[in-house]
Order: sequence, then structure tokens, then C-alpha cells
Amino acid sequence: MKFFIDTANLQQIKEAQDLGVLDGVTTNPSLMAKEGISGAENVINHYKAICAIVDGDVSAEVISTDFDNIIKEGHELAKLDDKIVVKVPMIKDGIKAIKYFSGEGIKTNCTLVFSAGQALLAAKAGATYVSPFIGRLDDISTDGLSLIEDIRLIYDNYAYETQILAASVRHSIHIIECAKIGADVMTGPLSAILSLLKHPLTDSGLAQFLADHAKAAGK
Ligand code: E4P
Repeated sequence: MKFFIDTANLQQIKEAQDLGVLDGVTTNPSLMAKEGISGAENVINHYKAICAIVDGDVSAEVISTDFDNIIKEGHELAKLDDKIVVKVPMIKDGIKAIKYFSGEGIKTNCTLVFSAGQALLAAKAGATYVSPFIGRLDDISTDGLSLIEDIRLIYDNYAYETQILAASVRHSIHIIECAKIGADVMTGPLSAILSLLKHPLTDSGLAQFLADHAKAAGK
């Protein structure tokens, strides 16, 4: 399973890249705003800065919601770097745009997906990635992970090549369950990735090993 980090924070992207397990980055307009990035030129420069750090796909989301402007914006984003994946919302004009981009060989990420039907449409349009938001479904007392299972089943039934990018991942259990189900990618915050490191028996075991070593060395 590929690991993407879901942030526009350059420091955190660098930390995840330095860990050696990062396969890409996802951003969205809220994450860009959180870093104080606004204005076309700053947005473009920020995507360039992200691409310079990460060795993998970088999702850059369009703001437009009508077909013509999604296409225009998507072209501008895609020409920034080969790593750019144009992130398009799951709306009618978005699906039309994904189909168009797929014909042009431009990578896409269909975002804001909350149902199996939406994921089926994204695959039929030729999306490179589909992003079901599991955390936000959990937030409204709906099982986000069962959506990943449903999409996996549907995509396998028809050998769709669209990759399932489990998004809105919040913690290590989401990541582990997504890996068990067979999500192709997960995207989450750095804290969720780092939480995979943690086990109390690792901490106590290491403390014991180091103490025994020090004792044997007469320290
Ligand atoms: C997906 O690409 C989104 O950026 C993201 O995963 C949304 O996550 P959130 O629900 O934590 O905002």
C-alpha cells in the first residue's frame, strides 16, 4: 500500500519524505489555507516547492466547478510538474473533466467521494485515483472502512485500474484496516503515519536491552 501525506506543510512533507516511506502528497484548498497560501502565484509556487521535496504524485485541487474552468485550471496545474495529479471534485462537470483529462493522459484524483456509486462513476471516467473520505464518514456514524471494502469489490469485479486512495485517514487503525482490505493508497496526517511506530512493548523492550547492555559493559 502506498503512503501519501495529507498536508500542505512543507516541514511535515520533508519529515515524511526523510523517513523513506513516502509515496506522495495530497492537498486540498483547506490544507493550503491552513498554511496561509493564497493567490494564484503563491499557490503555484507552493505546489512547485512540494514537488521539489517529494518523490511521488502530488495532488493539486482545482477550485473551479464548471467544465471549461476545471479544464483550464487542470492544464495549468498539470504543466507545473510531471508529479502533479489534478484533483477534481465528484460533481457532474468534474466527472466530465476527469474523462477529458484521462484522454489527454493527465493524472486525476476524484475527491469528495462518499459512496460506492460515486466511486463507480469515477472509475468509468478513467480517474487515476478515487478518494473515499473514511474519517468524515465515521464522523457521521457511517462505517468509512466498509465503503473501502465495497469499492475494492466493485473495482476487482471489473478490473478497473483506478487506484483506491483511502482519504480522511485519522489514525493507525484506519491505515491497518485499509491495508487488510487492499486499498491501493492511504493519505493521512504525519501523526497517523508516525503512530504506526508505536507499541509499548517496543518501548519497554528497548529500554531493557539498553539497560542490560549498559550493565554488562559495567556502566
Ligand atoms: C483528501 O485528499 C483530503 O485532503 C483529506 O484526506 C480530507 O481529510 P479530512 O477529513 O481530515 O479533512
